[in-house]
Amino acid sequence: MPDDLWFDDAPDRRGTSSEKWERWAGQDVIPAWVADMDFRSPQPVIDALAAHTAHGVFGYTLVPPELPEVLAAHLAARQGWRIEPSWVVAIPGMVVGLNLAARAVGESGDEVLVLTPIYPPFLTSPGDQGRRMVAVPLADTPNGWRIDAAALERATTPRTRALWLCSPHNPAGRVFTRDELRLLADHCARHDLVLVSDEAHGDLVLDPATPHVPTAVLGESVAERTITLLAPSKTWNLPGLGCALAIIPDPALRRRFKDAGRGLVPHVNALGLTAAVAAYRDGGPWLDRLCAYLRGNRELIAQSIARIPTLRWHPPQATYLAWIDARGAGPDDPSARLEAAGLGVSDGRLFAGRGWFRLNFGCPRARLREILARMERAFAS
Ligand SMILES: Cc1ncc(COP(=O)(O)O)c(C=O)c1O
Repeated sequence: MPDDLWFDDAPDRRGTSSEKWERWAGQDVIPAWVADMDFRSPQPVIDALAAHTAHGVFGYTLVPPELPEVLAAHLAARQGWRIEPSWVVAIPGMVVGLNLAARAVGESGDEVLVLTPIYPPFLTSPGDQGRRMVAVPLADTPNGWRIDAAALERATTPRTRALWLCSPHNPAGRVFTRDELRLLADHCARHDLVLVSDEAHGDLVLDPATPHVPTAVLGESVAERTITLLAPSKTWNLPGLGCALAIIPDPALRRRFKDAGRGLVPHVNALGLTAAVAAYRDGGPWLDRLCAYLRGNRELIAQSIARIPTLRWHPPQATYLAWIDARGAGPDDPSARLEAAGLGVSDGRLFAGRGWFRLNFGCPRARLREILARMERAFAS
């Protein structure tokens, strides 16, 4: 379990208008909920932002031509995915991307399949854009979360137009195998569905033995029906800078996606673009150290859960999010019980996971130890 001063020495975020830290400001509650980490971003990113602000002019800004290039180099080297710069559409956020994808595909009342439990905007965005979200529960098996092919088939109707996948999966932490992705892609081909693949956590793989497979690498015909959403924001902890990317190989689908946002979606902000270029170009060594650190944090959580007979989990293969089953502790809402014990987690009900909670372990190890002590106290009786 390597120590790493960069991650051990995180700055105090209180009083910085942090969404995560303001929620229980002034109370003895450690926030471990919304998905940002407490770590400083890589030094090359901080330096690039400092150079940009020193210039002092913040006018309307185009997507720098080097952004698709450094992104392509990053995806080729780390994920084995070769993209064309022309496929890349810069957007201010991945949730924006989900909503644009909903508007770009099908008509009012058409259906979108979503594998649950799931990151809450997957549940709400289809409805916000006049589509209908249809939940397809993942199977909670002794070997971890699995796709239920029969449930997927049952949920698909003549009105189904799209399948929204979160890969790696938030909150379940699954890194889907090539075979699982193939099953989903075949399903989409059989029913002529657009596949929206949110790969926000694709760089945060904790086990080198289970690498992330971008959905679009399965083949050209899969890529042609796929909208991939990703961003530097989870990987390098930049979500406040509002810069994300959609990768859409098919020109007609890309046009529909762009048109869906016309007049509504602003340019990506200039500092977000600067940070993204620096992160994709120079953020690799920091990312490797981060994943090693997160692996150590995951180990601490495993030890803690092993001491609490009423909790269970499937250790996440990716992300800094632990999805924990507290139904064994009784019918009470576990997030309220944890809050009373001084720990602020995400309520599983928001993810269509009643009785579960999501714990963000993207924090210094000393803080995680205190978080786990509070979790153990909360479930002691
Ligand atoms: C899977 C997934 N998609 C999208 C987002 C949000 O992305 P953005 O802040 O770019 O809208 C998150 C944030 O937690 C996420 O986990």
